[in-house]
Amino acid sequence: MSDLDKAAEAVLRANDRGGYTVPTAGLYPYQWNWDSAFAALGFAEFDIDRAWRELETLAEGAWPNGMWPHILFRADDPDYFPGPSVWGAGTSVGAPIASSGVSQPPVAATVARILYERDPAAGRARLRALFPKLLAWRDWFHRDRRGSGGAILVTHPWESGRDNSPDWDGAMARVPIRDLGSFQRRDTGHVDPSMRPTKDDYDRYLSLVAWGREAGWDTHRIAAEGPFAVADPTMTFILLRADRDLRVLAEGLGEIEAAARLGADCEAGADAAKALWSEDLGAYAARDERSGIFADGVSSAALLAWYAGLRDRAHEQRLLATLHDLLDAAPLSVPSFDPRHPKFDARRYWRGPVWAVVNWMVARGLHEAGHLSEAERLRRDTRRLIEGAGFYEYFDPCDGSGAGGPDFTWTAAIWLAWASPTKKEGWN
Ligand code: GLC
Repeated sequence: MSDLDKAAEAVLRANDRGGYTVPTAGLYPYQWNWDSAFAALGFAEFDIDRAWRELETLAEGAWPNGMWPHILFRADDPDYFPGPSVWGAGTSVGAPIASSGVSQPPVAATVARILYERDPAAGRARLRALFPKLLAWRDWFHRDRRGSGGAILVTHPWESGRDNSPDWDGAMARVPIRDLGSFQRRDTGHVDPSMRPTKDDYDRYLSLVAWGREAGWDTHRIAAEGPFAVADPTMTFILLRADRDLRVLAEGLGEIEAAARLGADCEAGADAAKALWSEDLGAYAARDERSGIFADGVSSAALLAWYAGLRDRAHEQRLLATLHDLLDAAPLSVPSFDPRHPKFDARRYWRGPVWAVVNWMVARGLHEAGHLSEAERLRRDTRRLIEGAGFYEYFDPCDGSGAGGPDFTWTAAIWLAWASPTKKEGWN
């Protein structure tokens, strides 16, 4: 174990609140959905029981309609905004825990498979208990969030996990800003405002929350009629990956009917992905469901196509060329948005910075598709970033400096599970 391995383990332990982990102290004091999935991946390197526990506590917040929300508010922390009283969700729809009213990409399903395959005998009972909830969650996506062409919609930028990506600019500009009274953001008290979403972004984020609250968090209606619905490559690809992994698990558990349904949806999902292809960009791109307009720049979400298992010959060579353009444009990859585009901002959150968790997913997909040198490049870059700056929330792709919050759970987890040189092959 290296010193950095030990430090990464210490970050996970320090952010452990007893069965669940916060992304980082201060800035994010609750349990976040895909953060927890990545935390489990990190815990699995030294405590597999604790890794399962992370997924189990996340599943505790599932809504009666199957959705796993993006934040679980187990206690009210005045240091975070918007908290449980602003969302008014979760318990209001019969769930056991107060929560946000949107979901997040279902990385947890893929991590469940990874944990299970580490030690199937020890993991079987836990998988069996978790499986119905994972299945209900993905059924919810297919029921309530399929847009035209079958791609998966997000109804709030926070749902995608890429809060202020330029992918949402067009649709966000059409979100009416409501009279929100006065509110005080807490994030800018923890982190330099130049690294965070703008005030205008926040006004629209909160206007969307107000809309959902008034709709009684009827998730079907929100997707059909709400002010924001964008077909998202992150969600479409991560769900497709989750479906593929759940299908393998269903077969292993003898869940024949579920396995057949998952298999059919995987085929449909591969077709749906085609609806996100932008010939202009040479990449998959977000598409506003209401206007039909594609995002006008390449974001790292496009590169999750390999992680989704897509082997679309017609588009793959072009996407590979786009990947190389991004690798050439940023010394430390993968930038979350194209550095050659005028909207690129090297330090502002999802408008340019590198995120270790995205690198892990992109590289995993590239590795599986046989693009080994590209996968290795991403691992090397991720390693250099963390060695140089520490376990930051994200990194500047131009100078490698860390940005956002320090001692971040998911960056430490990715270090342990993949980026550390002590992790030899690093894929399971
Ligand atoms: C930000 C990120 C999101 C993450 C959350 C907690 O909102 O954009 O992806 O889940 O912080 O780390």
